[in-house]
Amino acid sequence: MSDWINVIDQNALADGEHVVVDVDGTDVAVFKIEGQFYAIEDVCTHDGAEIASGKLEGCEIVCPRHGARFCVKTGAVKAPPAYEDIDCFPVRIENGKVQVRDNRWD
Ligand code: FES
Repeated sequence: MSDWINVIDQNALADGEHVVVDVDGTDVAVFKIEGQFYAIEDVCTHDGAEIASGKLEGCEIVCPRHGARFCVKTGAVKAPPAYEDIDCFPVRIENGKVQVRDNRWD
């Protein structure tokens, strides 16, 4: 069972901001949208771009390389040229810290 990892303080981000953190060796993009935190792997499933450096439009992130779109809340692909979802991670708040868990191999 994977561990919850402290990634940032609960108050560290404003709405619409993000940060890329290391969770057990995986780059994870943590976004704050409408007061809620979401975490997806920082990699575009089309050709490996760092998705967090793209433009956030509502709850969708647009890949900076070829324009694929993904839902930040679920990692679901929304527009080509990508066709696979980005891995999405569980997030919780504990003692003022945002915590993320990489549960893909649990
Ligand atoms: S690498 Fe993201 S759309 Fe091509």
